[in-house]
Amino acid sequence: MDFSAPSREHRRVVILGSTGSIGTQALEVIAEAPDRFSVAAVAAGGGNLDLLAQQAVSTRAAAVGAAGGTEADLERAIATAADDAGVRGYAPALLAGPDAVSRLAAWPDADVVLNGITGSIGLAPTLAALAAGHLLALANKESLIVGGELVRKAAAPGQLVPVDSEHSAIAQALRSGRADEVDRLVLTASGGPFRGMARNELVGVTPAQALAHPTWAMGKVITTNSATMVNKALEVIEAHLLFDIPLDRIDVVVHPQSVVHSMVQFVDGSTIAQASPPDMRLPIALGIGWPFRVPGSATPCDWSTASSWTFEPLDENAFPAIRLAKAAALRGGTAMAVYNAANEEAVEAFHSGIIGFNDIVDTVAAVVEELAGSPAGLQPGTPTLHDVLDAEQRARASARLRCGLQEHPRNTNAE
Ligand SMILES: NC(=O)c1ccc[n+]([C@@H]2O[C@H](COP(=O)([O-])OP(=O)(O)OC[C@H]3O[C@@H](n4cnc5c(N)ncnc54)[C@H](OP(=O)(O)O)[C@@H]3O)[C@@H](O)[C@H]2O)c1
Repeated sequence: MDFSAPSREHRRVVILGSTGSIGTQALEVIAEAPDRFSVAAVAAGGGNLDLLAQQAVSTRAAAVGAAGGTEADLERAIATAADDAGVRGYAPALLAGPDAVSRLAAWPDADVVLNGITGSIGLAPTLAALAAGHLLALANKESLIVGGELVRKAAAPGQLVPVDSEHSAIAQALRSGRADEVDRLVLTASGGPFRGMARNELVGVTPAQALAHPTWAMGKVITTNSATMVNKALEVIEAHLLFDIPLDRIDVVVHPQSVVHSMVQFVDGSTIAQASPPDMRLPIALGIGWPFRVPGSATPCDWSTASSWTFEPLDENAFPAIRLAKAAALRGGTAMAVYNAANEEAVEAFHSGIIGFNDIVDTVAAVVEELAGSPAGLQPGTPTLHDVLDAEQRARASARLRCGLQEHPRNTNAE
């Protein structure tokens, strides 16, 4: 695809993480706009093969992939789903195993890849989609953050399109001025379920409370990351990498209504904000259709009823995750891979009831500090894929030890 001459022609979409929150909403978007999109392939982890098979049958995807399980498992699940739906003669290509998802990311009969996988395990598929020359609609922010320059260098101009609502908002607002007219980026944060609480009040909060997000319905990891503000911290780094704006010119403001998704402040004092009720179908549709809007993607704001939007500063003492991420990102190299991997492990430990809420970010801080002190821990400069995987493995081991988790993590980039 020539990314400098985008066309509005019909696009065939590969959906990675199709069974998750982003993936299922992407399938809704595509079903609503058959003139614009069709499903080329669906892929997921394999934790919910029945749903994956139902999605394959209902979209008639040409290929189906699962990182876990076998091709025989997939075949059985698809035969059952086809029987249930009364569909005959549907025989997609089946791929199973650790490299199945990356192979589908490079599927030749496709135009766009939506990466909706959770966690840094999405890195290899991100690199595969970019190498194959597909437009990449990226919800899996972790792959950009841990890969950093590696991912940036792999992407042609215009090839990487954000799906995160904040970055979609910024990309839209940036259309209002030239790059050298941008003063600051302002990311909005809902504040999560614990907005307004002090650090000592957060000591005893439970996983169930952390998963009760006030405005967004999302997967478990991102919802927990929203409660700790790690999600916003990752988004600050994502904005820095996507839009090439220095970290000291990226701010976060708490906006509990989640209607203004982010803003760009220009040098003349003008601020351009993007507003829509919280609904990921809008940034997903714009991501896979980029740069064209998809009519009716979501319900717009209702300007006929009274409403108010509020903005307040973030309490960085209660929520130090953003300050910590900015400091790690300034170290460069694999520091953000360490930050993210330590967080993924600490989130697992929190949901297993082994550590408390404040321990999540404290663990991340300790692991970044520990590996920064080790000469082999944080390679400066542009890391290779090997450097990233190595740093992640060290960070996961250190975090698991600190949290008291079993030694070997599951579902990671470790070879
Ligand atoms: N949800 C949102 O509203 C939202 C908003 C902005 C950004 N994001 C970002 O989008 C990404 C996905 O979030 P989510 O909320 O949709 O997560 P989710 O609901 O937990 O879904 C995760 C998906 O990833 C799949 N998966 C897990 N391991 C995999 C592997 N090894 N290979 C391939 N697929 C694998 C899962 O498949 P199985 O469960 O079937 O195994 C599932 O389909 C995250 O990076 C998140 O930060 C999400």
